[in-house]
Amino acid sequence: MAEDIVISCTDVVKRFDGRAVLDGINLQVKRGETMIIMGGSGSGKSTLLRLIIGSFAPEAGDIQLFGKSICSMGEEAMDSVRTRFGILFQSGALFNSMTLYENVALPIREHTDLDANIIDIQVKIKLELVGLLEHADKYPAQISGGMKKRAGLARALALDPEILFYDEPSAGLDPVTSAQIDQLILDLTRKLGVTSVVVTHEMDSAFTIADRMAMLDKGRMIKVETREWYDELRKLSHDEAAGRSVQDRLIRQFLRGDAEGPITDRKDHTLLERTLLGDKPDGVSTMPSLTPTR
Ligand SMILES: Nc1ncnc2c1ncn2[C@@H]1O[C@H](COP(=O)(O)OP(=O)(O)O)[C@@H](O)[C@H]1O
Ligand SMILES: [Mg+2]
Repeated sequence: MAEDIVISCTDVVKRFDGRAVLDGINLQVKRGETMIIMGGSGSGKSTLLRLIIGSFAPEAGDIQLFGKSICSMGEEAMDSVRTRFGILFQSGALFNSMTLYENVALPIREHTDLDANIIDIQVKIKLELVGLLEHADKYPAQISGGMKKRAGLARALALDPEILFYDEPSAGLDPVTSAQIDQLILDLTRKLGVTSVVVTHEMDSAFTIADRMAMLDKGRMIKVETREWYDELRKLSHDEAAGRSVQDRLIRQFLRGDAEGPITDRKDHTLLERTLLGDKPDGVSTMPSLTPTR
């Protein structure tokens, strides 16, 4: 294989209560790259992340991590795969009764037989990486939201993961702090060669850290392309964009956060139908219809 693929989703379908929340997802992530997953609220970003980390199984399709299908894997094998990735979810999810030091040490104590002095060095390296070594003895309640996020990252790094998953890493942070988190993600990728998968709807952040970007729309993967591709689309003038497909214009509107465009037209159309025809379940009347690229 020419490129080392660490995550591979093939025709993945996930349903909740009979409704397809993800519908035929294909996505491959290469070792060492930063992949952004973006899309509107409810488009299925978090669900895709949870499928990839094995929180639940897809109804159809296959998900491979490090070349092995996690869908047919037993719990024991899955546990060993779990030690190879780290997760940073929105809250940082620290234990409030433990210091930052103890929070980072915990997964190392749980998953390895290392001596206390080796663990001590490991914990200090991780805290230093995120700039929190001098705050090692503080409790989560004593530090700011941005510091909690960084502490969560230090803990996610505890077992030297090959992949890091982030779900909305800058949610709830002020712009400066969220820019610092972006910088940290970039540093970690460069220093440690970590593969990162980042769910975000913050486009400044996405364009800062991405190698490639994947766009979800209503449970379908409508585009997986390089940052440069998206950047070019984003910068098109209104007239230049007029010649592009509805799908490209929809992505452009999302990237720019424009009030007007295909996303809005689709909502208005749905609203009009609702008003004229009465309420329908979501997804029945979506205009204009989008055809996935693959
Ligand atoms: N555990 C669940 N049970 C039922 N529906 C769910 C569950 N998790 C997510 N959903 C639904 O799946 C859709 C996608 O959710 P999610 O992946 O959280 O979207 P995003 O992260 O892009 O905002 C939403 O309509 C959401 O309500
Ligand atoms: Mg989400």
